[in-house]
Amino acid sequence: MTTILITGANRGLGLGMAKHAAARGYTVIGTARNPGSAEGLNAIASRVEKLDTSDHGSIDALAQTLGDIPIDILVNNAGIFPHECDDINDFDTEAFERVMRVNTLGPILTTRALMGNIARSVRKLNISITSNLGSITDAAKGEMGFVGYRASKAALNMANATIAHQLKDRGITSVVIHPGWVQTDMGGPQAPLMPDESTGSILDTIEKITAKDNGRFLDYKGDTLPW
Ligand SMILES: NC(=O)c1ccc[n+]([C@@H]2O[C@H](COP(=O)([O-])OP(=O)(O)OC[C@H]3O[C@@H](n4cnc5c(N)ncnc54)[C@H](OP(=O)(O)O)[C@@H]3O)[C@@H](O)[C@H]2O)c1
Repeated sequence: MTTILITGANRGLGLGMAKHAAARGYTVIGTARNPGSAEGLNAIASRVEKLDTSDHGSIDALAQTLGDIPIDILVNNAGIFPHECDDINDFDTEAFERVMRVNTLGPILTTRALMGNIARSVRKLNISITSNLGSITDAAKGEMGFVGYRASKAALNMANATIAHQLKDRGITSVVIHPGWVQTDMGGPQAPLMPDESTGSILDTIEKITAKDNGRFLDYKGDTLPW
């Protein structure tokens, strides 16, 4: 049976992916900062584990708890979008450090902590949820705003492109996926996509990924995005 571990699975896209994965018969391990209050996740996941991806000790503790179990698909999903570092004219340094810690360093350290578990599995997939806002090509066309968030996702994309080569000898395939602009707490009510549609398509795309896709930047439908 396929085991999927999703970070930040208590709400938003993480919970949506967990629901689709459970409905498809996967063994779902969902993480949350507060597992006790993650009612929706507790109702569908095989296991709910505590994880704060901004805390190195928390990541190490999760790896200890999981031990040697194989993880077919790791989804680094947990993320934040603090608007206090959107604009260099009014820029909060602490918010920038926070977004880099959660959106970039968190996935790197979680992958590092669990890469042995992924290597021990059948599917061997290391997936990170990124954003099209991390595309330097798009930003260079003159799209405005979001300095901190864009930098954190561009850095995540670069980390993945590099890690993809560092882990391929262990049979691990590493891919970043943009979920679309989705109506979650982060995406807001104006977003054109509903979480159920985005997360179902993300799972469809993940199911089609092979070793040939290693290092790619895809959207939820499986189309390639510009770096
Ligand atoms: N929604 C969109 O339109 C959109 C577009 C592009 C990319 N994305 C990306 O998709 C991912 C999910 O976004 P979303 O829309 O579902 O956001 P969301 O509704 O705000 O949910 C964010 C999730 O991340 C968790 N999280 C935040 N900081 C964490 C930390 N330090 N440690 C562990 N978990 C943490 C939250 O847990 P708590 O409940 O404890 O805060 C929550 O489960 C993010 O990486 C985001 O950047 C979203």
